[in-house]
Amino acid sequence: MTPAPTSSQTHRTTVDFLRPTYHFTPPANWMNDPNGVIQWRGLYHFFYQHNPLEAVWGNMHWGHAVSPDLIHWEHFPIALAPTPGSPDERGCFSGCAVNNGLPTFIYTGVRGEKYEIQTQCLAVSHDGLLTWEKDPRNPVLSEVPAVAGQTSDFRDPFVWREGDIWYMVLGSRIKDVGGAVFLYRSPNLVDWEYLHPLIVGEQSRNGLFWECPNFFPIGDKWVLLLSSNFGPYVQVLYIIGTYENLHFTPLAEGILDYGMIYAPLSLLDDAGRRVLFGWVRETRPDAAMREAGWSGAQSIPRILSLDAHHRLLTTPAPELLAQRGEHYHLPSAAQHGDTLLPVEGWALDIEATIQFQPDGLYTLTVGCAADGSEHTDIRYDAARRLLTVESFQKGAVISRHEAAHPLDENESLTLRILLDGSVLEVIANQRTSLTHRLYPESRESSGLRLSYERAQIHTLDIWKMASIWH
Ligand code: FRU
Repeated sequence: MTPAPTSSQTHRTTVDFLRPTYHFTPPANWMNDPNGVIQWRGLYHFFYQHNPLEAVWGNMHWGHAVSPDLIHWEHFPIALAPTPGSPDERGCFSGCAVNNGLPTFIYTGVRGEKYEIQTQCLAVSHDGLLTWEKDPRNPVLSEVPAVAGQTSDFRDPFVWREGDIWYMVLGSRIKDVGGAVFLYRSPNLVDWEYLHPLIVGEQSRNGLFWECPNFFPIGDKWVLLLSSNFGPYVQVLYIIGTYENLHFTPLAEGILDYGMIYAPLSLLDDAGRRVLFGWVRETRPDAAMREAGWSGAQSIPRILSLDAHHRLLTTPAPELLAQRGEHYHLPSAAQHGDTLLPVEGWALDIEATIQFQPDGLYTLTVGCAADGSEHTDIRYDAARRLLTVESFQKGAVISRHEAAHPLDENESLTLRILLDGSVLEVIANQRTSLTHRLYPESRESSGLRLSYERAQIHTLDIWKMASIWH
């Protein structure tokens, strides 16, 4: 049965130029983590942490949307809501979806004044992922492993199957030590056996606590993603390693995104691709989100792979290319320049290839006001091997992200830049991702400028992007 979608009217009639038109946003109000993404009978089902009442965090439900192609979405009715007097009475926190004959959610139910009672719960759907029945045996896992010490942080199950056995990782911490991911197994998703910590962090280096683990193979390696949300470290780490006899041996690590992506969730699709969605956080105050009536976007779905140096590579799903419209192409140019480009817009897909001299500089400016009063600069400094994105208002930097991005020998810089209202995703050479938010005052500030020194522009291609909402 294919249930009827709810309306996507909010997206069609929006006059809010800061609201993305080709990235997924909720129909209204608040969204955070992607949850339970799964391909079922060919269709992609996307669920997400959702507050249906306000454009700020709280009152956690699971929103639902469906797509034939990862790009065009229809909003569906809410999939999970808290049940009073049950293990999820204070919220249905993050989790995943698996195929156990029936589509099945494993998620964290929360109770308590401070959401401090966190237990793992199941729900199944009998009607093609439209409505969800919570398991009467919930919670199916409530005991925090003794090694953790006193902690109420025990959440965000990520589950996969090997043969007849289900495995699960959960985000947690070990008191006075750091973040931890605990490994479990089960014959039936109901009875869970604790095995051991898959990995334990160091709180001074990578945070007090880890959320939303993902653990999956790519080729003969395994990739662990961790969202670290406490102390000074708010970022997503990736660790590449080998996984044998239930033990993970790290070989290399990196940062998934140097900006605003958090709590990502991956799925293995029918084509065998590892597809990743990440919550693109807002950086504006609650009052501004309430006024806008929506909060949070999802990154463009990205296809993950590894290179020979154990670096995680990320490429926007090729399905996105169908949204490309009017095209602007700048062929190779001289070694320096500073020009306003004959293209403007708030929904653009940009590809650039640049070869640098050792001290070359390149700046592509988007969201540029005619009088220069506001703009956002994407900049690469070859001598410092540094990628930065900075938003300016009235001459002052109002937000900034940076990432070390060393180029390999003789390697050109390749940039993929997705500008969509207030969301700006920048991916350099597939391996450095920097996602930024910009909130310019005027819709008219939509110009583009290019300036570069001691750099050879091989290509610059810009496409206007069509909205994904019909
Ligand atoms: C990550 C997170 C998860 C939790 C959810 C609650 O952003 O804090 O750990 O399950 O959000 O909304």
